[in-house]
Amino acid sequence: MRRVLLVGFMGSGKSTVGPLLAGELGWRFHDLDTEVEARVGRPIARIFREDGEAAFRREEDLVAREFLGRGQVVLAAGGGWPCRPGRLDSLPSGTLSVWLRVGAAAAVERIRDDATVRPLLAVPDPETRAAELLAERTRWYERADWGVDTGGVTPSDLAARIARRVRAASGE
Ligand code: S3P
Repeated sequence: MRRVLLVGFMGSGKSTVGPLLAGELGWRFHDLDTEVEARVGRPIARIFREDGEAAFRREEDLVAREFLGRGQVVLAAGGGWPCRPGRLDSLPSGTLSVWLRVGAAAAVERIRDDATVRPLLAVPDPETRAAELLAERTRWYERADWGVDTGGVTPSDLAARIARRVRAASGE
């Protein structure tokens, strides 16, 4: 096992669990949204506004492909990246994809105080929008190797649980 790809809806905890998991494994952590922002030189909300969502999706996939070529990394994919045909079915060997499960209400609650603007949830009724998006996306997230519930468990416990699975899969 050479890398872990964390997937899941906005607010599922990928960017919180990811660094903790990387710390457990002694690997590096990369948030792919942050990498897109660095590459384009603008925050995601501005990329959406100025270039459109389709341009963001192209950039996001280029960045994902680049980082999926690296070893000893934990990657956090943006919530929309897995939701295209083939994305989680054609990962390079040695990748464990993990879906962090969260419900719409909990997701919206978790991102409420977050400084990061999520253009897709910047609407008058984010909870209804989140529930609609989750309903469309669950069939994609389900294609991950492993799904874990994020409710009632601390990010560090979750990271430790995923790390155990990585070690077991690596024969350690
Ligand atoms: C998106 C999720 C965001 C970011 C962009 C679009 C989505 O990432 O990529 O706002 O389509 O779900 P997070 O899942 O890290 O919030």
